[in-house]
Amino acid sequence: MSISSYKEFQSFMSETLAAMGVDAEFAPHEEFWSSLTYSEFTQGNVPGIARAVRILIPGDSAGSALIQSLKGEGIFTGAPFRRMPGGGPFMTDDQIGEIAAWIDAGCPEGDAAVS
Ligand code: HEM
Repeated sequence: MSISSYKEFQSFMSETLAAMGVDAEFAPHEEFWSSLTYSEFTQGNVPGIARAVRILIPGDSAGSALIQSLKGEGIFTGAPFRRMPGGGPFMTDDQIGEIAAWIDAGCPEGDAAVS
């Protein structure tokens, strides 16, 4: 499967995390992948945290905090942040790869009417 729209990305996050038993409702940033608009998500910062961290850079998954957070790289090696979801369990390489491919494709927004 490949993610071809923001809605598909949002569903992938919710379904994958639910299957892992992860509930980010009480994280400081809450489930920001579900609540933000497409432009907030692709151009803005992670909400609810003290430090300004841009969520992602379209076309550059390796340079995107979202991917670094899931892999435990960059600023997510323990200081200032730990690997996400905080405390685990963590996504598999294949699952992270699906998200990375969507980012590397430039984060296609897709048709908002198609879910
Ligand atoms: C993209 C950049 C992200 C930043 C900057 C970030 C930052 C943080 C911070 C500061 C905390 C509180 C401290 C801690 O628990 O370590 C936190 C907690 C948490 N984050 Fe993130 N996060 C990011 C992405 C994500 C993603 C993608 C997920 C889900 C896959 C996630 C899931 C969680 C969860 C579940 C917690 C709560 C952990 C607990 O209650 O022990 N975060 N995050």
